Order: sequence, then structure tokens, then C-alpha cells
Amino acid sequence: MIDIQLVSQACLSRVKLGQSLKTVFPQELEKLGSNNDRAVVKNTVYGALRYLGYLEFSLDSLVAKRPNGLVNLLLISIYLIEYSRSANHAVVNAAVSSAKQMGYGKLSGLVNAVLRNYLRQQSKIKKKASDDDVANLQHQAWWVNKVRQDYPDQANDIFFTNLQHPNLALRVNTRSTSLEKYLRLLDDEKIQWRRPEHIGAPAAVILSQPVSVYQIPGFFEGLVSVQDVGAQTTATRLDLRPGQRVLDACAAPGGKTCHILELEDVCVTAADKDPKRLMRVEENLRRLCLTAKTLVADMSDTDTWWEGEEYDRILLDVPCSASGVVRRHPDVKWIRREKDIDSFVKQQRSLLSAAWKVLVKGGKLLYTTCSIFPEENEKQVKWFLKEQSDAKIDSTYAVHNGHLILPTDNHDGFFHALFEKQ
Ligand SMILES: C[S@@+](CC[C@H](N)C(=O)[O-])C[C@H]1O[C@@H](n2cnc3c(N)ncnc32)[C@H](O)[C@@H]1O
Repeated sequence: MIDIQLVSQACLSRVKLGQSLKTVFPQELEKLGSNNDRAVVKNTVYGALRYLGYLEFSLDSLVAKRPNGLVNLLLISIYLIEYSRSANHAVVNAAVSSAKQMGYGKLSGLVNAVLRNYLRQQSKIKKKASDDDVANLQHQAWWVNKVRQDYPDQANDIFFTNLQHPNLALRVNTRSTSLEKYLRLLDDEKIQWRRPEHIGAPAAVILSQPVSVYQIPGFFEGLVSVQDVGAQTTATRLDLRPGQRVLDACAAPGGKTCHILELEDVCVTAADKDPKRLMRVEENLRRLCLTAKTLVADMSDTDTWWEGEEYDRILLDVPCSASGVVRRHPDVKWIRREKDIDSFVKQQRSLLSAAWKVLVKGGKLLYTTCSIFPEENEKQVKWFLKEQSDAKIDSTYAVHNGHLILPTDNHDGFFHALFEKQ
């Protein structure tokens, strides 16, 4: 318990300093001795981030001045008391020991007092929290206001969905097996599954209980990949034809690159500016027995990488706020600042303009984000159509300014817009 609270608070402190869990977990989890402890810390940190609005509110209700250095330990401990099955006295004792281990022996009495006070005032605090947007909806105030403004009718559902545990969805590699055969394999292994509602992901299956990749039948043999159902609606919109030259311009870690190759006999260049992340594309291609050319390049600077031959199809899965994938990445809702949206918008525009140059006349470019913010989605489409007189929206797959899927139980939030070059 001590190590759990100690390491969890270290993870939380780093996220609150702006680091993402992708960076924090590998470094912090290494400090733990067992896989079980690592799993418990992960769950604790994910949980604390889901409910951080309430945890911060509770701490502020309990102390007049926040005790520097111990804030995150207290937040993690309140989380464990409120949302986990750990015994309250064990959480309080471990918090006191952790404070000592962290060099705050003199303040360990305060830790004990704050947590015991929480136990006494729990119901009063919860009642007060229900009138506070950040504590109640578990997003930063600007995010709450923005979603309410952008989606007045769906805002509450979005906040609720963002608090849920994500499901585990698989994409069946239809080059290696069929959906029907794979579902039989799951039945043979007594793994319960369901098919998602019809949103254009024909090879998707959702497992009723999340399992590790080691327990997914055929994973290492390349029969399936782990991919959110919403993400599985991307490659299918590319209107692929055999023999086409396809550029996946922001490819890493390669989920969509592989899906493209599973769908059609095309010639794919998978590019990303991050060489380490591009290695993950190569791993995925190997596991699924697929072939693509990989390229480390900054796609916004065509002079540095383009050899002059145009592409028939381009997938542009741009870096974005990730506001559609909060249930999978709860750190995002606390790390993002409102002004970040502007810098994503600039980056996305420069990628769009550059990618357009290398698309053949008559070719199609699919712009996609895992954001639900209109600035990165339909407003970008409007801007691009004004900017590029030879661009038009392909209406087979999209209405007006693209197609938005809001996050639900079944899938994350995504946006797609398919442009055709005239
Ligand atoms: C949303 S992720 C792509 C996810 C990927 N399409 C998939 O489905 O697995 C965005 C990627 O864009 C890459 N990226 C960001 N700026 C880039 C640039 N200027 N040129 C190329 N890649 C870039 C990032 O390294 C990141 O891997």
C-alpha cells in the first residue's frame, strides 16, 4: 500500500506539471517490484485523474492552506478512500508512512488529520461538490464551458462518457481470417464479446471484459489488432482502389496504416516525424505480415522529403487536442490549456496545405482528428475550402464540413473529412 500511494502521487505530480502518462508511467512504474503493483498504480492514477476535479475540491474544503509537497499524496489517498475498495484505515496509515518516506515526517500528523477529517465530512463535501462544475463534471472550467457552448444538447453525455472506463475493441485482420471465424475462436476461449452498433467498422468486435494482449487469441499471430471502434471507421472512408499510391502522413503507431493494408492491395508510405514512434509502425506491420515503406519526415516541409511522385490517397491523421479520447487518456483533460487549441490549429493547417501539394489531381485526402473541438474539425474544413480553390468535400462519406462521431460507450470521438482534388 505504501509503495502504491507513493508512486501514484509521483505520477500525479508529474501529470499536473504537464507531462503525459505516456512519458510518466514507463519511468515511474519501473520503481515497483511486481506486475500486480504496477497494475494497481496504473488503475489508481487513471482513477484519480478521472475524478481529479472532485479530489481537488475536497482537499480545498479540508485545508485552509495546501501543504506543499503533500498535496498529491492527499489527493491520491482521498481517491482511494472514495473510489476504491481499499480499507479506509489502511489508506490513512499508508499515507502517513508515505509522508514519512517522502521526508515529511513532521507533517505526517497533518496527513492523518486531513484524511480522518475527510472521512468525517465525506457526505457534506459531496453535497457541496455537486454545485461546483469542475468538481461535479471532472473537467477544467474552460473545457466545461466550451463543451456546453459547442454541444448544448450533448454536453452532459460527453462529460459522463469521459468518466467511463474505455472498452477493449479489436479489429480483425481480414487478410488472415474472417470476422466469423475469429468470433468462433473467441467463443472457443470462452471470451465474451459483442459487435458494436453499426457505425462503419465491419471488422470490429468489443470484448466484454478487458484482457491483456497475451490473452487475446491470435494477437501475436497477427489475427487481430487492438483499435477503438471509432478509429476503425477511418481507413474504410478512404475510398481505396487496388494499386493506388497511398501516403499515411502522420502514421505512428500505425493502427490506421495496417488497417489500410488489410483493406486493399495498395502501396503505402507510412511517414511520421518521430523515429521512435515510427518503429512501432514497423513492429505492427511485422506482426500483421503487412508491407509498407516507412519514412521519418516532417510532412509540413515537403522540400525535405518529397521526390516528386504524387499520391492517389492521403490519410492525414493530424496531431490534435485529443479531446475525443478522454476516457482512454484522462490526463489530457487536465494537461490541455485553452490556448493549445490555437497551436494545434496552426500545425494542422500547415500539414493540410503541405499534404495537398503531393496529392494527384482527382485524388482524395482524408483529414481526421480524435478531437471534438470544432476549431480543429469543421472550422478547419471551412478554412481549407476557402484556401484551396481546387478542393471540394467528397459527399459520399461526409455531410457539409465533415463527419463527427461524439464519444459514447462504444467508441471514442473522431472527426473525418474527405477532400477531393479537382
Ligand atoms: C494522431 S497521431 C497518429 C496516429 C496514427 N495515425 C494511428 O492511427 O496509429 C499523430 C502523429 O503525427 C505525428 N506528427 C506530428 N507532426 C508531424 C509532422 N510535422 N510530420 C509528420 N508527422 C507528424 C506524431 O508524431 C504522431 O505520431
